Amino acid sequence: MSIRIDSENGTLTLHTAHTAYQMQIGRGGHLLHVYYGPDAEGTFARSIVPADHGFSMNPYEIREGRNYSVDQLPLEYPGSNIGDFRTTAVDLIADNGICGCDLRFKSCAVEKKAYTLQGLPAARDPETEAETLHVVLGDEATGLEAELLYGVFFEKDVITRAVRLKNTGDHALTLLAAASMCLDLPERYTERIHFHGRHTMEMQTERCVLAHGIQTISSGRGMSSHHHNPFTILCEEKTTEEQGWCIGVMPVYSGNHRTDIEVDQKESVRVVTGINRDMFTWRLEPGEIFETPQVLLTFCSSGLEGLSRQLHRFFRKHILRWPEAWKTPPVLLNSWEAVYMDFDAKRICALAKQGARLSSDLFVLDDGWFAGRSSDTKALGDWTADKTKFPHGLVTVEEDVRKQGVSFGIWIEPEMVSEDSELFRKHPDYALRVPGRKPVMGRDQLVLDLSRQEIVDGLYNQIARLLEDGGIRYVKWDANRNVADLYSAALPPERQRELSHRYVLGLYSLMERLTAAFPQVLFEGCAGGGGRFDAGILYYFPQIWGSDDTDAVARLSIQRGYSFGYPPECVGSHISDVPNEQTGRTVPLSLRALTAMSGTFGLELDPARLSEQENEELQRYIGIFRRYAGLIRTGIYSRLRPERERDSLFAWEIRAEDVSEVLVFAADTDPQANAKAVTLYLRGLQEQAVYRLTCVEPETVWNGSRPLSGQLFTGSELMQGAFSIRPFSGTAPAALFYLKRTECA
Ligand code: GLA
Repeated sequence: MSIRIDSENGTLTLHTAHTAYQMQIGRGGHLLHVYYGPDAEGTFARSIVPADHGFSMNPYEIREGRNYSVDQLPLEYPGSNIGDFRTTAVDLIADNGICGCDLRFKSCAVEKKAYTLQGLPAARDPETEAETLHVVLGDEATGLEAELLYGVFFEKDVITRAVRLKNTGDHALTLLAAASMCLDLPERYTERIHFHGRHTMEMQTERCVLAHGIQTISSGRGMSSHHHNPFTILCEEKTTEEQGWCIGVMPVYSGNHRTDIEVDQKESVRVVTGINRDMFTWRLEPGEIFETPQVLLTFCSSGLEGLSRQLHRFFRKHILRWPEAWKTPPVLLNSWEAVYMDFDAKRICALAKQGARLSSDLFVLDDGWFAGRSSDTKALGDWTADKTKFPHGLVTVEEDVRKQGVSFGIWIEPEMVSEDSELFRKHPDYALRVPGRKPVMGRDQLVLDLSRQEIVDGLYNQIARLLEDGGIRYVKWDANRNVADLYSAALPPERQRELSHRYVLGLYSLMERLTAAFPQVLFEGCAGGGGRFDAGILYYFPQIWGSDDTDAVARLSIQRGYSFGYPPECVGSHISDVPNEQTGRTVPLSLRALTAMSGTFGLELDPARLSEQENEELQRYIGIFRRYAGLIRTGIYSRLRPERERDSLFAWEIRAEDVSEVLVFAADTDPQANAKAVTLYLRGLQEQAVYRLTCVEPETVWNGSRPLSGQLFTGSELMQGAFSIRPFSGTAPAALFYLKRTECA
């Protein structure tokens, strides 16, 4: 049983295979957080030592001894205006003027399945393996009830959290903050890791020492953003890839998110995560319910690699859903960097033919195919084929592509509208816009008001029409600007600050309807690359284009950043031409191909511009990817270079769950003269087992004077440093090795 309620001690304990999480009902009925760590039995409330804390006040009914203060206690879901002066999880004002809420324990219950949320993604539980703990807290003065939801995924060591807020009182309540969770941690968590960036430079790993006060990781861009991915790791100073405690906190949300980490006067660490309280309010009439987005929580006592492994396994079973036909990953050729918008039907068919010659599975017609789209200043909103480029419609192109034995896919950007479009001319009020102000432009486009049902319905009908005949098997869903001009023509004044969240709910409902109606279509998310790369989108679309920077050198650190939280197979990653369009850098095809392999793998170039020999090489890389795609989609991913060492060597390994085979990648983006040998310390292998090494790329690699291919190593040798190769030299050299467990010693 993963959830235990001990009424005698007043403890509520969640157990996963290797972790435990404990709460206790405090003397005043406050729900205290007393433990999250390695699996353990016992009562951890003794970690809280009652004491009189100066300037930390006491509830009226527990004031003797002055040693019970909500300003000092670890609280599970703190209300506000109650003498806890740290970051609160929920704040409100009632129509009768009462501010804040004092949440006390009311009841709890266990359910033998995972909970679901209305209109929001919540981890799937296909085999009903999870359990849910419901804990109801209530505030007498306002009638606010907070039902805390804990989904316990035992095998995966993941606990999901969300909150159902209900107005059981007589007055309307306006929520000013409604976090999904609070986690009060002891002072041993002294550092945080998060992933910041910008357009074309997402997921840069940053590790900082926590300071007193509040540190915030957030987005107010209407999307999870290129700038701060909604994923934070709390860890100890000593935490490395292989040791130390760490906790991953990941909102399953694609809109304005926020994680506040507050180190208080006594060095306790409070983490509050959920919807960004800036630009947010939500009005709850009596009887109404508001559900917060879900947050994934995972603890690991053996370092960051274990934390990533737990999240990857969780994503594979409970978040990602692949269309049946695409269980084997397709190799696609995307037209964007090959031809941009400069094409007609003939050029597109020729490009698709080139892809077919290389044995790709899927051809994707990117931006530029729809009515009037000759540049990025126009036509968004009109999702029918451009008559000049495609006089006989898209269907003939689709058929032509299919005749080559290749499936057909398209790009769309449904949430946006250009001023120069039929849709905008007909419905200018569909775009978000503040009355009396000129709109803010991004890539010359405006954002549709997805909080409005009729707009969502219109989009559904337009997209469904495209997909109905079944010819389109893949859709790349883009969103090339952030959301500003928050004002909806359809909302009353007191609900205008609900718009950002309502937008996300509208988006999710559209994604839900489309993916349910067209289960054979593989959807790939995108927002100018990784501008909306999060678990919320991945719940509907199992892959997301990782970055508009396709330069393999830049991609190495971007994809490494993603790997901390997201499994490699969901990171859209392609081989592009050189010199690279974004950085101007020229690196060999091998680095470009092997880097794309730690993602979805695809092509984004015109093979006709390559030499015959390069085309042959490309074909060989496609073959290599196909050989190992199954392993990449299911294996355990380890970063082989320490997270703090910012050298030019990148290395990762992907090993089968049963460790019978291993793929090892290494690349040096800046080889030095007179360098030392490269030693790769593999992880997680069977010590006694014997592995035969094959050099996949290049086919010959030397350690000393002996070629490596064919050499046998024990698991111990591979993990303890016997796998060494000559220093890399050349321009951004890269290598791929494959190890297979053999029976012979
Ligand atoms: C975004 C995407 C690109 C491409 C263009 C098309 O920037 O990330 O891959 O689809 O839009 O306009």
